[in-house]
Amino acid sequence: MWKMAKKVLNADELRQEIKRLTAEYYKAQFGNRPEPEAGQKQEVRYAGRVFDQHEIVNLVDSSLDFWLTEGRYAKEFTDKFKAYVGLNHAFAVNSGSSANLLALTALTSHLFGSKRLKKGSEVITVAAGFPTTVNPIIQNGLIPVFVDVEPGNYNMLIEQARRAITTETRAIMLAHTLGNPFCLDEVMKLAEEYDLWVIEDCCDALGSIYKGRKTGTFGHVSTFSFYPAHHITTGEGGMVCTNDPLIAKAVRSFRDWGRDCSCEGGQNNRCGCRYTKQYGELPLGYDHKYVYSHIGYNLKMTDMQAAIGSAQMDKLPDFVEKRKAHFRAWEKGFKPLEKFFILPVAEPGSDPAWFAYPVTVRENAGFTRTEFTDYLSRMGVETRNLFAGNMVKQPAYLQVEKRIVGNLENTDAIMERTFFLGTYPGLTDGQIEYSLNQIHAFLKSKGLE
Ligand SMILES: Cc1ncc(COP(=O)(O)O)c(C=O)c1O
Repeated sequence: MWKMAKKVLNADELRQEIKRLTAEYYKAQFGNRPEPEAGQKQEVRYAGRVFDQHEIVNLVDSSLDFWLTEGRYAKEFTDKFKAYVGLNHAFAVNSGSSANLLALTALTSHLFGSKRLKKGSEVITVAAGFPTTVNPIIQNGLIPVFVDVEPGNYNMLIEQARRAITTETRAIMLAHTLGNPFCLDEVMKLAEEYDLWVIEDCCDALGSIYKGRKTGTFGHVSTFSFYPAHHITTGEGGMVCTNDPLIAKAVRSFRDWGRDCSCEGGQNNRCGCRYTKQYGELPLGYDHKYVYSHIGYNLKMTDMQAAIGSAQMDKLPDFVEKRKAHFRAWEKGFKPLEKFFILPVAEPGSDPAWFAYPVTVRENAGFTRTEFTDYLSRMGVETRNLFAGNMVKQPAYLQVEKRIVGNLENTDAIMERTFFLGTYPGLTDGQIEYSLNQIHAFLKSKGLE
């Protein structure tokens, strides 16, 4: 008998075959989940990663490169990201928290002369939000100044911010709460008037629009998160963006160990004077690759994460539309329930890519938030609190040097009575309808309907 010679595939052919099989694997493992039947208990997540074969194929493709650190996919991802947001510089990092740390730390750089943020400078922020919007202020030895937020809009009260300004105020660092843009016109006006830096935390607001422009393009520097709950995911991951070349230089340096050189990984002598200059007290011609001009970190993203991010970017416009549609579906369902709940209000002039649907139980609703969210949880419907509630009441912040403006009464109300439901693109109309039915069942059980 003749034996058939087995064709030996070369590396490129093997790669194509692996990619083909990976796409098939996706379909076998994740494709075609059946919809639950009407009347069945459902699991309604508040967030989750939404992906198809393209993310997994990219991830495998990148792992076959075995480049590992930032490479071709990092370039592809950041290029797509810059084009989408409309900014000149984007630096991929390993989380949204790292992005915030970098954005604020960059402004402590000597590159900004007398404008640099120095220990003891005050930074205006809010206490109703996520801890790592505020932590970089504390981590850099600056003083957070907490002002209250508006009920239903969940963003900073601009008049309180104005009153909070002292001769020590140097910056405003805020998140667009759950995707709802804060009052950018007024914040930027205040910043101009008092010569303040503005750091936009867009971790929950990728794709949100304010007066025709994307959030993240108003402040001096902006940040994004790609943790799975967010608008796109890379698992862990984040981005820092700016249009200012000096801020970009500082961000890159702090991200990349504090080094002065701006060569990409694997690149050499981009500046053309690698061995010809003198820095600090180093000898003339000391290799620029090993010159450190900042006390830096290493917060870079890997190329595998970027490969996922690149595939997610192609889905982003559709994701944003789905988030808006889900928000509208919740809005329609909650509208008749306004006597029990304060419903969310978009900032005037904005078109938010809502991270979530935030709701506050009214003081006289006849039930508490905990009773309500506990009931929903038992029915399979996930909710979340508005992150830290009132951050200044969290154990970690009790002893922190800070200034509080007013009594943060709206922030306290959020801590006690606010929760949010999901708007993520993986949510289905059936799940929203199921959740609304559970809400009515709860109100009936309380004799309120
Ligand atoms: C407003 C805000 N900022 C920062 C972060 C931190 O992002 P990451 O989880 O990627 O560190 C989050 C996280 O969810 C967030 O909601």
